Amino acid sequence: MSVDRVQPKLIIHGGAGSSLKGKGGAESVRRSLYKVVEEVYALLLAGATATEAVVTGCQLLEDDPRFNAGTGSVLQSDGQIRMSAALMDGTQQRFSGVINTSRVKNPIELALFLQTSDDRVLSDIGSAELLRELQLPLYDPMTELRLQEWIQEREGNFNRAMAGVVAEKELISESAGRGTIGVVVLDAQGQIAVGTSTGGKGFERIGRVSDSAMPAGNYATADAAVSCTGIGEDIIDECLAARIVIRVTDGQSLANSLAKSFGEAYRNRRDLGAIALAADGTIGWGKTSEVLLAAYHTGDRIGDTLDLPTDLQTGTV
Ligand code: GLY
Repeated sequence: MSVDRVQPKLIIHGGAGSSLKGKGGAESVRRSLYKVVEEVYALLLAGATATEAVVTGCQLLEDDPRFNAGTGSVLQSDGQIRMSAALMDGTQQRFSGVINTSRVKNPIELALFLQTSDDRVLSDIGSAELLRELQLPLYDPMTELRLQEWIQEREGNFNRAMAGVVAEKELISESAGRGTIGVVVLDAQGQIAVGTSTGGKGFERIGRVSDSAMPAGNYATADAAVSCTGIGEDIIDECLAARIVIRVTDGQSLANSLAKSFGEAYRNRRDLGAIALAADGTIGWGKTSEVLLAAYHTGDRIGDTLDLPTDLQTGTV
C-alpha cells in the first residue's frame, strides 16, 4: 500500500534540569541542538526513514561531549561509565535496547542491531558480547570535565540527586540536572520512531537501571512517540512515555495527553521532561523541571524550548 508523502517533523532533546547559569550556557546548547536538527532534517528531506533519522540524531547527540550520553556520559559511584539506550519503531511497535553498557561509542547502534534480533533488550554482559560479535572498536566515553565533576562530588560523598545536565566548565558546580538525549521523528511516509540514550543519573549505585531503556522513558506506536528525560525513578513511577502515547492512541489529542500526564506528574512532585510527536504532525513537549533542552523542526521553521518559564509547562506546534 503506498502512503502519500507527508511533511517530515522532528524534535530532539539534550536533557532537562536546573536553569543553565548565564546566557552563554543556553546559547551554546542551542547552537549544538540546532546543528543536529538541521543535519537530521536534511536527511529526512532526502528520504531517510524515521528509524534511520532517529539513529543518526542520537549518534550526533551521543558524540557531543556536552550531553550526558555516549561521549561525555556521567560517571557512576564507582567511577565507571555505564550507558543505556533504546529505539522504538512506532509502525512495527517494536522496542529494543541496551542497559548499562560500557566501552562503546554509540549505544544506540547496539539498540538498532537488536531491532531485528529475537532477544531485543540486553543488559551489561550481553551487550559486551554483542559489541564483540559486531566487532565494534572498544571506546572510552570519559571526558576530563566529567571526571572532574566526579572527583568534586566524591569529596561531598555523592550527595547530589543527579549530575549536571550539560558538561560546561562554568556549569560544573551547578545544582542537580537530568541529562539524557532523545530524538523523535515523523518521516515522509508518515512513519514514527523514537530513540533515547543516557549515561544515567550520575554517581548512582552499580546496577541501577535507567528509565531510558524502558517503555517508561522511550515508547512509540503508529500514532505517537515520546522520549523522556529527568530523574529516571520519577519517569518510571509515572510510566510517562507509554502513558502519553497510549492516551494519543486511545483518541486524545497530543496537547491534551501532554497536559493531563504532566498535570499528574506535577501533582506527584516529579522532576522530568519529555518530547513527543503525533502521526497527525503535531510536535509537543512538557516539563516539570526548570528547563527542557529541546529543539524541533516543523518543516517550515526551527524552534526550541530553552526559554520557557521555569514552572510546569506543556506545549505543541
Ligand atoms: N533519565 C535518565 C536516568 O535517570 O537514568
